[in-house]
Amino acid sequence: MEQNEKIKFEKEIKNFKVDLFEKKDMQGSLIPLLQSAQDSYGYIPEQAIYYISEMTSVPAADIYGVITFYAQFRLKPLGKNLIRICEGTACHVNGAKRILSALEDELGCGVDDTTDDGFFTLLSVACIGCCSLSPVIMVNDDTHGSLAPDKIKRVLKTYKNRKN
Ligand code: FES
Repeated sequence: MEQNEKIKFEKEIKNFKVDLFEKKDMQGSLIPLLQSAQDSYGYIPEQAIYYISEMTSVPAADIYGVITFYAQFRLKPLGKNLIRICEGTACHVNGAKRILSALEDELGCGVDDTTDDGFFTLLSVACIGCCSLSPVIMVNDDTHGSLAPDKIKRVLKTYKNRKN
């Protein structure tokens, strides 16, 4: 980890720990604490679950239950590049399912999952707001519209080439 990243990480942990101390005795503090952990780390690491369990006296197994119940929480870090596939009505009608299949085949992972190399995370969204370009995906802040399954490989390659 580079020095700047290390400093940022330590600051994030500090913010989470402040929240942990401030909110530990609050009624219904579990969800805000999990949100704080996720805001700090980008996901909820095992260590954070251990901290929360110790501070709130909620068993770790129960905390896992809450995390897996709510779609907003992640137990794995996000990849370096976020791919959002739109599965809204216009995109659905224009072939979003086939785009999703092509993405899953290329990435080797499904929605809400990250590639083994940590380079891409695939997420599903309801509408990106570019319905006239459907079917649409976003990669980070870039919109790719009027897609066909055979274009997916090329789109992903653009980002893979930026890797080096
Ligand atoms: S439904 Fe996909 S961009 Fe609106």
